[in-house]
Amino acid sequence: MTTSTRIILNADTIPRVDIDFMNNTHVEEIEMVKKLGKLVVAYQESAMPTKSETNAITQSLEKWLQHTEAHFERENVLMRETNFPVYLVHSGEHETALEQMARVVKAWQNGNDIDSIAEYVFNLWPAWFNSHVDSMDMITARFAVMNGFDSQSTPQE
Ligand SMILES: [Fe+2]
Ligand SMILES: [Fe+2]
Repeated sequence: MTTSTRIILNADTIPRVDIDFMNNTHVEEIEMVKKLGKLVVAYQESAMPTKSETNAITQSLEKWLQHTEAHFERENVLMRETNFPVYLVHSGEHETALEQMARVVKAWQNGNDIDSIAEYVFNLWPAWFNSHVDSMDMITARFAVMNGFDSQSTPQE
């Protein structure tokens, strides 16, 4: 894999939505993925990766999966709380993305295939994340605020 094919999202260029807690979560996630990306590149460049380099990637992936699960759940709660009309479309995208991420993590744990992790971290995930935030998250936040949700608060459920 060459450097030119890597997509690295930045906190200041990711689309911003109308609700703070969502933006904060997105920034946290981008920072996590950046750290993971560095581990992945180091691993790819290493002639013989050590056990601790492998473990660092495993831990980073597991942490990311947990963060993503909480991220999606919080948005699902927001949608339920504000009666977002196309809840199932947005939550369905979450479900599909989370299943894919869980499969990627499991495959890594079983086979330590760094190139498929790199493909996910530098291509599949950033493309998905950017377009998801720019569509589903964007309209969910706008709808919630238009219907009285305070942009600086967090969902209650
Ligand atoms: Fe989101
Ligand atoms: Fe979302």
